[in-house]
Amino acid sequence: MSPKAALKAKSEPVRPEASSRPRALLAWYDRHRRRLPWRALPGETSDPYRVWLSEIMLQQTTVKAVGPYFEKFVARWPDVTALGRASQDDVLRMWAGLGYYSRARNLYACAVAVTRDHDGVFPDTEEGLRTLPGIGPYTAAAIAAIAFDRRTMPVDGNIERVVSRLFAVEEELPQAKPRIQQLAATLLVDADIGNEKSRAGDERSRAGDSAQALMDLGASICTPKKPACSLCPLSEDCAARAQGTQESFPRKAPKKSGTLRRGAAFVVTRGDELLVRSRPDKGLLGGMTEVPGSDWVAGQEDATAKQQAPELKGLSRWQRRVGVVTHVFTHFPLELVVYTATAEARTRAPEGMRWVPIATLAGEALPNVMRKVIAHALD
Ligand code: ADE
Repeated sequence: MSPKAALKAKSEPVRPEASSRPRALLAWYDRHRRRLPWRALPGETSDPYRVWLSEIMLQQTTVKAVGPYFEKFVARWPDVTALGRASQDDVLRMWAGLGYYSRARNLYACAVAVTRDHDGVFPDTEEGLRTLPGIGPYTAAAIAAIAFDRRTMPVDGNIERVVSRLFAVEEELPQAKPRIQQLAATLLVDADIGNEKSRAGDERSRAGDSAQALMDLGASICTPKKPACSLCPLSEDCAARAQGTQESFPRKAPKKSGTLRRGAAFVVTRGDELLVRSRPDKGLLGGMTEVPGSDWVAGQEDATAKQQAPELKGLSRWQRRVGVVTHVFTHFPLELVVYTATAEARTRAPEGMRWVPIATLAGEALPNVMRKVIAHALD
């Protein structure tokens, strides 16, 4: 079926004989798949723990950034029960720098739940997986397909782009998500074909490979800018390419960026130690370590923010560092003014705060914004 015909036949299932795309995609994957630390090699069985861990880490984070974290985690906690028996603080510390810290708390809660309620064995269906902390519809589908070969198609940002181009989906995201999901599922090898194959001795639907093929295609060929269409196994059949409009997909409503919030951060040193505190468990950067700071509020005046400085006996005058630290969270950009001061030896930390040696900061659960603040202050 041509892409145009597929678009018209909105609710009609695509029959196996109607499309050669699923097979072309798998053939391409067999030749060009990326070697990634969590991926089973051809012929190997996937380890659900590694698949789950990678999928949680890859939410909102790039493959490149995840690699070293994944290796550190599996070296320290080789299976889900080992992670389930760790302490949340250790997990948060190991996660520090990957961002979106609620994922780390959910990761830990999920490991505890699998260890305690499922004898250390991950459920092997989407429905079962969705009962676990931190596993939403996308992640459940990804784990079910990749680890358990369930015939389902997880749709992430890369897959959204590939599919919206392939079928020239005019509807804007996010409204187009259900339509893209439906079209993406047509790229799975048909169930009937799977059965025929199973008689020939190959029972796998290879749904996980189909999904990862689309992810790899999106990452390496069907890129947001300047897609390398001449290398694409699906280019002959791509509606956007036929129109020469591939870069304009997926269609998106213009982004509303959050309002800029402003605040102050106070970097206090006592010899070679730094004053820190832990953020409340719930909410943004929950449970992470930070230097004391003001509220983060839109339009906040510097003077108002400065009034929220911690009070310590034997403290030098506050020095304002030149410039500001900026950081962009999902919902808002942040601008922090940074003040420094030094405390006399043996100055006590205010209630709820503590001194930590600067040399051991790498072992603290410090979010990226705080790394920037400390670097700005101590450079
Ligand atoms: N992004 C999310 N899951 C992925 C996977 N399994 N392989 C590559 N990129 C991904």
